[in-house]
Amino acid sequence: MRKRIALLGATGSIGAQALEIVDLNPELEICALASGSHPIDELAVTRGVRHAQVGGDLTNLLEASEPDVVLNAVVGFAGVGATIWALDRGVTLALANKESLVAAGELALQAWRKGGGLLVPVDSEHSAVFQCFEGRRAETVDSLVLTASGGPFRNRPIEELVSVTVEEALAHPTWSMGRKITVDSATLANKGLELIEAHYLFDMPYERIDVVVHPSSVLHALVRFRDGAALAHLGHPDMRVPISFALTYPDRRATPVRQLDLSAGLTLEFEPPDLDRFPLLQLAREAGERGGTFPCAFNAANEIAVSAFLDGRIGFLDIAGIVADALAEVDGAPARDLDELVEADGTARRVAAGRLAPV
Ligand SMILES: NC(=O)c1ccc[n+]([C@@H]2O[C@H](COP(=O)([O-])OP(=O)(O)OC[C@H]3O[C@@H](n4cnc5c(N)ncnc54)[C@H](OP(=O)(O)O)[C@@H]3O)[C@@H](O)[C@H]2O)c1
Repeated sequence: MRKRIALLGATGSIGAQALEIVDLNPELEICALASGSHPIDELAVTRGVRHAQVGGDLTNLLEASEPDVVLNAVVGFAGVGATIWALDRGVTLALANKESLVAAGELALQAWRKGGGLLVPVDSEHSAVFQCFEGRRAETVDSLVLTASGGPFRNRPIEELVSVTVEEALAHPTWSMGRKITVDSATLANKGLELIEAHYLFDMPYERIDVVVHPSSVLHALVRFRDGAALAHLGHPDMRVPISFALTYPDRRATPVRQLDLSAGLTLEFEPPDLDRFPLLQLAREAGERGGTFPCAFNAANEIAVSAFLDGRIGFLDIAGIVADALAEVDGAPARDLDELVEADGTARRVAAGRLAPV
């Protein structure tokens, strides 16, 4: 039986790498393609895919195409409907779109419990934790450690961060990714989103999730157990590995990614994140701990601020300022359904947009 995959965000960085993985595995087949604004008709025709959509409600596409696996590689809150759709129906969800789980939080967990399906994370750190967790009993786990590359500004003094350019922020030292997540990696907001993602995915309290900076991005995550042992996941930073893991789970098919060559030398360096220069990591932790729709507001305000930074409207350090202001203003009341979540997202967006100078 071939696995039928709905690839949402097909024109993006994860989308392109997912197509590569599908082409390597004859048992995988694309049954639906979606993008936000780039045309995908040609791609759909070339691949013989009948269901293709640009923008609009992704759940219509999913209903029509009846996938076995939804690979949600959309960027931002726009992916939330597809995440809930898959979780609610018990359709396997390969989740790259971390923003949807962060924003939907408890609503996503309710849908997951109801649907009872498989959720395999695509984020490399969470894929790593998932693999270190496999087959272990929850009570044996002490804590998780997520690694962060530290981004292009790891060694920049705060005085210089005021005036860094978009081009500098987009020059990630170890990963090649879409623009939004690359900026999020430079501010450490990405690690903040991942912290909240890990909390929901692995049912782990925030005080038992640590973040450590690891510049070479070879060690993706570490799970510490109560007996003092720790299991880590290592590999070259290449998203084809976690994408392939998620799409071919539990078969772990081969990929073209080369093995680590330990005899060539491997130095693993770690340092604590600098929360003064990168306050978004701490803001995310606080938003996560407060719960309700605070994580949704964190994500929404961050999306607005990053977009403004990419458009040259605000400086790099303004991103954190806008998110902090938005979090101080919203009420964070829990959302009882998707409509209320969309409302909370919209409110945070309006507050954040209000902090931008008029164009
Ligand atoms: N790239 C990585 O290495 C990486 C690693 C870990 C996690 N992730 C996560 O994976 C997700 C995608 O990241 P990316 O780097 O691949 O981003 P990207 O290169 O910017 O691609 C985003 C994709 O989402 C599509 N999209 C945007 N809005 C949409 C909408 N309303 N409906 C349908 N599709 C929409 C875009 O279509 P258009 O091209 O038409 O705009 C594009 O195909 C993000 O959540 C990111 O955090 C990425």
